[in-house]
Amino acid sequence: MTETHPHTMTAAVFEGAGGPDVVRSVRRPVPVPGPGEVLVRVAAAGLNRADVQQRKGVYPPPAGASDIPGLEVSGTIAARGERVESAAGEYDDGAPVCALLAGGGYAEYVAVPAGQVVPLPSGVDPVDAAGLPEVAATVWSNLVLEAGVRPGEWVLIHGGSGGIGAAGIQIMKAYGAHVAVTGSTREKLDYAAGLGADVLIDYRTEDFAERMRAATGGHGADVILDVVGAKYLGANVSALATGGRLVVIGLAGGVRGELDLAALMGRRGRIIATTLRARPAAEKAAIMGEVRRHVWPMVSAGRLRPTTDRVFALADAAAAHAYFDSGEHRGKILLRP
Ligand SMILES: NC(=O)c1ccc[n+]([C@@H]2O[C@H](COP(=O)([O-])OP(=O)(O)OC[C@H]3O[C@@H](n4cnc5c(N)ncnc54)[C@H](OP(=O)(O)O)[C@@H]3O)[C@@H](O)[C@H]2O)c1
Repeated sequence: MTETHPHTMTAAVFEGAGGPDVVRSVRRPVPVPGPGEVLVRVAAAGLNRADVQQRKGVYPPPAGASDIPGLEVSGTIAARGERVESAAGEYDDGAPVCALLAGGGYAEYVAVPAGQVVPLPSGVDPVDAAGLPEVAATVWSNLVLEAGVRPGEWVLIHGGSGGIGAAGIQIMKAYGAHVAVTGSTREKLDYAAGLGADVLIDYRTEDFAERMRAATGGHGADVILDVVGAKYLGANVSALATGGRLVVIGLAGGVRGELDLAALMGRRGRIIATTLRARPAAEKAAIMGEVRRHVWPMVSAGRLRPTTDRVFALADAAAAHAYFDSGEHRGKILLRP
């Protein structure tokens, strides 16, 4: 391992649980990459809803993960640990990369299993790229690998203007699916339309299951990507097409719902629920391999554009969290060391 970097770094952590006021700037040792890991010098880190839940104390980091939050970064390789080959130069010092993390992104440096680190896709800004790994991995793993979306199918994405939604629309359109989205304001729905969404549903004023059926000539949604959970369980099942798949990845509307099994059976439907963060490193590496093969070409072709809303300095991570909490953001919020 080369030693061209400093021994201490600036990071942001949560001291206790609560609002943005628990976010603190601290000095920490620069992590040492273990066997199979590389050290990434962070260009920028993406904020995710999971960080906010961790800040509130309701989503602790998985065992062994850093207490420093941050699930994704862009940057350059600063060092590599034992047993990391750099056959094609992808892990050479200075190589531009993106990484999916179990934590540790709100910092100047982060150590991460090499399999979760992929080269920067061509044609993308190195800072904007920080907002890609988590959304690309979540969308691809859930919609394509878990739910098996096929080109030509109808996909309903709840929250089309959020980080996940904005990437989901673009990836699914590039993949050849039809996309319907829900959202809370005209402005957010217009934003989703600008990204390619075919059907826009205001969840505050409209019955989304009814709209989904009407918009598809009675067919319904072949696949639903849901971030609401319990509150939408019944309506989601009734929005499904025959053979439809509901993928639950968020629980903004509660954890316990009532499931009408007859309605699900009648549709020969399936319900899937997953989290990305808790998966073992080998599974994350496999997903990032898929992202590199299938999603990065969409980025290089301009079909998936990073959706950076605002970039804050790492020292202003509390302000970035306050902005995330406001719910005004569209797409991704980034931190820059
Ligand atoms: N399981 C996993 O592996 C995994 C991985 C990544 C993310 N997630 C989850 O995915 C969700 C989105 O994450 P993010 O980082 O993209 O957060 P985000 O940018 O804050 O987006 C949240 C989205 O949820 C939408 N939403 C909230 N309440 C809704 C409702 N009742 N009906 C429809 N949409 C609603 C919001 O739409 P409006 O702003 O229009 O209200 C917004 O678009 C979070 O719940 C996160 O925990 C899960």
